[in-house]
Amino acid sequence: MAFRLDNVVPWGRTFEEYRQMFMLDEADMQAKILDFGAGPSSFNFQARQKGIEVISLDPIYEFNKQEIKKRIDEASVTVMKQMQDNYDNYLWDKIKNLNELKKLRMSAMELFLSDYENGKKEKRYICYSLPERLMFEDNSFEIGLSSHFLLMYTALGYDFHIKAISEMLRVCKEIRIFPLLDLNSERSDLTDNVIKYFKARCSLKIKETDYEFQKGGNKLLVIKK
Ligand SMILES: C[S@@+](CC[C@H](N)C(=O)[O-])C[C@H]1O[C@@H](n2cnc3c(N)ncnc32)[C@H](O)[C@@H]1O
Repeated sequence: MAFRLDNVVPWGRTFEEYRQMFMLDEADMQAKILDFGAGPSSFNFQARQKGIEVISLDPIYEFNKQEIKKRIDEASVTVMKQMQDNYDNYLWDKIKNLNELKKLRMSAMELFLSDYENGKKEKRYICYSLPERLMFEDNSFEIGLSSHFLLMYTALGYDFHIKAISEMLRVCKEIRIFPLLDLNSERSDLTDNVIKYFKARCSLKIKETDYEFQKGGNKLLVIKK
């Protein structure tokens, strides 16, 4: 089935949020990083400014800058309404209110858009959907990331997750997934089953992060081969 942009809610986080969610330290910042389901986040752009090598992957990179911008503008209205309706599911300490949240997210997505065409030419933004086989060799990257994609969209199912994470682990020596909550801000059976599968085959840790915006969203899953 063709990938449709109107089914996606593009919503992007910043480098600083990625640093906190994924507990990226100085050594990690020397590593080659692959960001799966990177969407319109400004992580790639801001990381590159700091000399960190990141490649971002997402099916929305099939579309051009104007098409993505139009979809961001449409979707932001819906997302902000949902945030208002679910206000109590979030911790409003670091981000103080809905206005501040909107400013933060929109400025991250503007940075992404300003970098997108150049980054596509440099092959830093590559159109790709999990769990397809990637064009990279085994162990080409030190770290693979998934922020607010894997384990969140439980409707994708168990088989999808096993195949997707297995392919991530083929090209990356280690992968990090954040948060361990679904769209209802709950820990799902799917997450527990996926953890069980990889615990039997890999080294697996759950770390507690300082970053917590979605209440209870302060767990980072780290899987190493
Ligand atoms: C909520 S956004 C998260 C964006 C970014 N990681 C962040 O935290 O700011 C989820 C992203 O997953 C992407 N996505 C959807 N299906 C995908 C797939 N099969 N493989 C990889 N990414 C996918 C969407 O296009 C969207 O950009």
